[in-house]
Amino acid sequence: MTHQVRAVVARGKGAPVSLETIIVPDPGPGEALVNIEACGVCHTDLHYREGGINDDFPFLLGHEAAGRVAAVGEGVTEVAPGDFVILNWRAVCGQCRACLRGRPWYCFNTHNAKQKMTLADGTELSPALGIGAFAEKTLVAAGQCTKVDERASAAVAGLLGCGVMAGIGAAINTGEVGRGDSVAVIGCGGVGDAAIAGSRLAGAAKIIAVDIDDRKLATAKRIGATHTVNSRETDPVEAVRELTGGFGADVVIEAVGRPETYEQAFYARDLAGTVVLVGVPTPQMKLELPLLDVFGRGGALKSSWYGDCLPSRDFPMLIDLHLQGRLDLDAFVTETIALDDVEKAFERMHHGDVLRSVVIL
Ligand code: APR
Ligand code: ZN
Ligand code: ZN
Repeated sequence: MTHQVRAVVARGKGAPVSLETIIVPDPGPGEALVNIEACGVCHTDLHYREGGINDDFPFLLGHEAAGRVAAVGEGVTEVAPGDFVILNWRAVCGQCRACLRGRPWYCFNTHNAKQKMTLADGTELSPALGIGAFAEKTLVAAGQCTKVDERASAAVAGLLGCGVMAGIGAAINTGEVGRGDSVAVIGCGGVGDAAIAGSRLAGAAKIIAVDIDDRKLATAKRIGATHTVNSRETDPVEAVRELTGGFGADVVIEAVGRPETYEQAFYARDLAGTVVLVGVPTPQMKLELPLLDVFGRGGALKSSWYGDCLPSRDFPMLIDLHLQGRLDLDAFVTETIALDDVEKAFERMHHGDVLRSVVIL
């Protein structure tokens, strides 16, 4: 059997997205069919539409999603129909070298659904990040579904599937922020703000938000920054040092993805401190640093891949903390919108007006 559902499709490079009827097959072995309840609008979706990821148009956009499992295929043990789940980009194999070494976020054999969803005329769709969730239903590998407490709102749960997890994970998994630490976060969009929320959750004593936009700094403060620095007006390295007794922060999280902000992060950390790069650079970007500074300042230069998260460990934990009132995730949902508002949401995202617009289905 197949299902006809409404979905947001990017048909060609740079062209506005369109609302289309797509065909979703019933789940085959190892697959799950999910009724999508909410899906956040992320920069990566826009990036797909602009042809910045690859040329496999048409794309079925959307990947920060939560919903209910409608049906599962043969051999599926991870989830069952009716489960409230958050989708993740990459079902891991559990058997490759990376998985066996306890670093499944670097799994060599991640997989998605084998069957293809199509347009009404049979054209195969490429689902964004192997998900494609701006759709009433989508088909994924069962391992892409993580069951969480169904009392959480779908809007909030969906956001954990991508940007918010990346930011929280950059702080708690990669940066290993600890109680009493000082943290600086450079770039306070959705990812940076999530790093602030994660640092607060981890018990950081000082959380310094750095951005070039005062509106972003105001939001960062609401989410948990103890200090803010506008790096257009003030040298952020000096400011962070001043706020940390002249030393620099224990952990600096770069959430922009540019050489100049990485350099600021490098020098804004304390000796033997940690720099976490979670912003994604382009292939052309290069960085030059005095090797003596790399040597002399010690510490760790790390990058954070999807928040170095383990969905099965981190999604349910973060939802539980949220439900207990210890992690405010509602603050990340700026607005809820309908499926046919995605193009407008891209516009607002582009102007920096929102943390996240979330499509409710
Ligand atoms: N210095 C400080 N902040 C900056 C600078 C700069 N030179 N340039 C941009 N910013 C700020 C913007 O004002 C904005 O608040 O960085 C923030 C970026 O936020 P978003 O554009 O909303 O992006 P976000 O979704 O948070 O993702 C940030 O992480 O996962 C990656 O691909 C993602 O590279 C992107 C980064
Ligand atoms: Zn995303
Ligand atoms: Zn693996």
